[in-house]
Amino acid sequence: MASMACISFLFFLSLAIAATTTAVKQTYIVHMRHDAKPDHFPTHQDWYSSTLQSLSSETQSDSDSDSLSSLLYTYSSAFHGFSASLDPAQAESLLSSPSVVGVYPDTVYTLHTTRTPAFLGLNNDLNLYFHDPHHPLDIDQASHDVIIGVLDTGVWPESASFNDSGMPEIPARWRGQCQSGQDFSPKSCNKKLIGARFFSKGYHMASGGGGALKKHLEVESPRDQDGHGTHTASTAAGSVVSDASLLGYASGTARGMATHARVAAYKVCWTNGCFGSDILAGMDQAIEDGVDVLSMSLGGGSTPYYRDTIAIGAFTAMEKGIFVSCSAGNSGPNKASLANVAPWIMTVGAGTLDRDFPAYAILGNKQRFTGVSLYSGKGMGSKPVGLIYEKGSNGTGNLCLPGSLQPEAVRGKVVVCDRGINARVEKGAVVRDAGGIGMILANTAASGEELVADSHLLPAVAVGRKVGDMIRQYVRSEANPTAVLSFGGTVLNVRPSPVVAAFSSRGPNMVTPQILKPDLIGPGVNILAAWSEAVGPTGLEKDTRKTRFNIMSGTSMSCPHISGVAALLKAAHPTWSPSAIKSALMTTAYVVDNTHSPLRDAAGGELSTPWAHGSGHVDPQKALSPGLIYDISTEEYVAFLCSLGYTVEHVQTIAKRPNITCAKKFNDPGQLNYPSFSVVFANKRVVRYTRQVTNVGAAGSVYEVAISAPPTVAVTVKPTKLAFKNVGDKLRYTVTFVAKKGANLSARNEFGSIVWRNADHQVRSPVAFSWTQI
Ligand SMILES: *[C@@H]1O[C@H](CO)[C@@H](O)[C@H](O)[C@H]1NC(C)=O
Ligand SMILES: *[C@@H]1O[C@H](CO)[C@@H](O)[C@H](O)[C@H]1NC(C)=O
Ligand SMILES: *[C@@H]1O[C@H](CO)[C@@H](O)[C@H](O)[C@H]1NC(C)=O
Ligand SMILES: *[C@@H]1O[C@H](CO)[C@@H](O)[C@H](O)[C@H]1NC(C)=O
Repeated sequence: MASMACISFLFFLSLAIAATTTAVKQTYIVHMRHDAKPDHFPTHQDWYSSTLQSLSSETQSDSDSDSLSSLLYTYSSAFHGFSASLDPAQAESLLSSPSVVGVYPDTVYTLHTTRTPAFLGLNNDLNLYFHDPHHPLDIDQASHDVIIGVLDTGVWPESASFNDSGMPEIPARWRGQCQSGQDFSPKSCNKKLIGARFFSKGYHMASGGGGALKKHLEVESPRDQDGHGTHTASTAAGSVVSDASLLGYASGTARGMATHARVAAYKVCWTNGCFGSDILAGMDQAIEDGVDVLSMSLGGGSTPYYRDTIAIGAFTAMEKGIFVSCSAGNSGPNKASLANVAPWIMTVGAGTLDRDFPAYAILGNKQRFTGVSLYSGKGMGSKPVGLIYEKGSNGTGNLCLPGSLQPEAVRGKVVVCDRGINARVEKGAVVRDAGGIGMILANTAASGEELVADSHLLPAVAVGRKVGDMIRQYVRSEANPTAVLSFGGTVLNVRPSPVVAAFSSRGPNMVTPQILKPDLIGPGVNILAAWSEAVGPTGLEKDTRKTRFNIMSGTSMSCPHISGVAALLKAAHPTWSPSAIKSALMTTAYVVDNTHSPLRDAAGGELSTPWAHGSGHVDPQKALSPGLIYDISTEEYVAFLCSLGYTVEHVQTIAKRPNITCAKKFNDPGQLNYPSFSVVFANKRVVRYTRQVTNVGAAGSVYEVAISAPPTVAVTVKPTKLAFKNVGDKLRYTVTFVAKKGANLSARNEFGSIVWRNADHQVRSPVAFSWTQI
């Protein structure tokens, strides 16, 4: 990921600068034996400070006052331990203390947005789903009690999406705060936005140690200067806002998924990324504050769970009944590109809506091509102008990187720019600044036929790879190529939809191949939601436009949709565990589009697979009443972790219990009671799993199994019928997968499904098969 590389570079650069003046320090996260605190320390914080003090007198590399200030955070819920700024020798010497379980360097995570700027709103069909005549509960009323914590870039509290008109009093159990800071006061919160805090110590440390932060760029408060956090928070739980519009171009109603739920914003992401130490502090606080749902549209690489800050914090959240929804990442269509794959996390991929913004490019040879755009200014008229596509003086003109276009060549022309490397909207700014009057943004193989609309600074049309290749060919073969661009507004009922977004990260799951990920997809392309007025819709510094709403794309956008829907399920079923809610969302997801064909993948236009869409596309209405659920207890998650070959210490880092022995573990991690299956044959031909389902439908329900399997695998389920006497009854079934002999399958993957069904319900689990060790 380009942005990730950039962040790491800055990070190391600042460390190198720091090294010239003092010992090289960086942030470490230290896992402590929580119950080993000596009695003479009143609090854990006292104990940790003292531990750090003794460290500096040992290594004599620091004065006592420095070591005191080097304690960044004390963690008590999401993690047991603290974070501190240490040099490598200090980190090493900490490890020798018997109270220290592990010492890990801080890592940086990135937001999962493709920073699509955009446009104005139309009704999202999801909003209409919750009018269930058979469900007597008033979910709107009940969701007043549900609190969604959003870890992101903060919040723009003045947005109409956080209007608290008609909201009853804040639930008495809420322990959160409206933290004051620069340009943010306790009065910035209300009965809708009930909490706001910020966590910047890890970020300061990585940016060169506290003082070096560019103060004028970073507001030290929960205020959102980026837009991303306001967008995700309002997607999850924004109030209804009619006549939402971007730059007056169109109008519609904007609203979140759970319009009556409460929002608490935890700002953990800053200009150069989101640091693990800050994320952990935000999660720790959100758990203490009493949130019911945690929405996190950010992630890092693929690491074991005991090294993954988000997975560690999410485990405690899950244990306390908090549903954790995370974005799957935007590194698709590459395989094995997922983030946030822990089984106690809902891993959310992205699909399209049935809405489009067509725009047209007419070439000098009269060919007319359709693409998309959210360009909202003056058009370029109907007179064709010169069209160019060239590498330019430093060979990057085809990508329209900054400084790559020669004004003499570009002035007055439309420029073809390849998608990739730099931000799409930046390419538009580069063309405009070089004197170009229009841009055709053409996909390459990496982005395929997926079109993401942007509110460019100049007339611009985004086209897919096939059209892009025809236009490139035209420019190359024509002596005087020309083009004229025009814009078609908004179109609804686009078919097919949903389609899996090309950027949505794909399986297989590299951390635990036996758990199928992503879990499902939700709307994540061209999503309208509230925006920060500190930044223009493109997010570019030179974009001086102010908009109260913006359209963005990314799994960052699909994640809060699921967070909001989970809040509604929590309101409808307050006693359900996070794993039960997750199961309900997954087993009711749909796998056919609005043309009644199986879901397609924008990357190649072919049929999608569970490695791209997981269980399918979320269906909030059906999820309310799933019939059966696959529940998972904390003990089962511990048995799962123990089956991964982790040390007891590593399992303790995640599960935070002193009494873990791993006496109980699965013989195969795929034995976890997960609502989907990922079968890895590798060195065996037979894989057998037992699952347990709980009846949450009606007493006397009877289900029969329907199996779909590829020709290369024999699948048998025993029993084939499940008869539940009462609500709450649990029944088990065993499924046996046998790889058939003969076929050379070393490079292949296949998919199937296991469905428990009756007249009222279809409880569907996708199955992915692999024949090689992943
Ligand atoms: C909040 O909503 C109410 C009711 O819709 C409306 O009367 C009021 O003007 C809104 N306030 C703001 C600040 O938008
Ligand atoms: C490309 O060349 C221009 C000068 O023509 C220079 O200003 C710019 O920095 C160069 N950009 C890159 C990416 O090398
Ligand atoms: C381990 O400790 C947890 C609480 O920390 C407790 O719920 C659990 O029952 C204990 N397990 C065993 C096997 O003692
Ligand atoms: C199976 O197919 C792979 C490539 O698809 C090939 O490399 C391998 O040699 C084949 N194995 C056998 C036993 O034919």
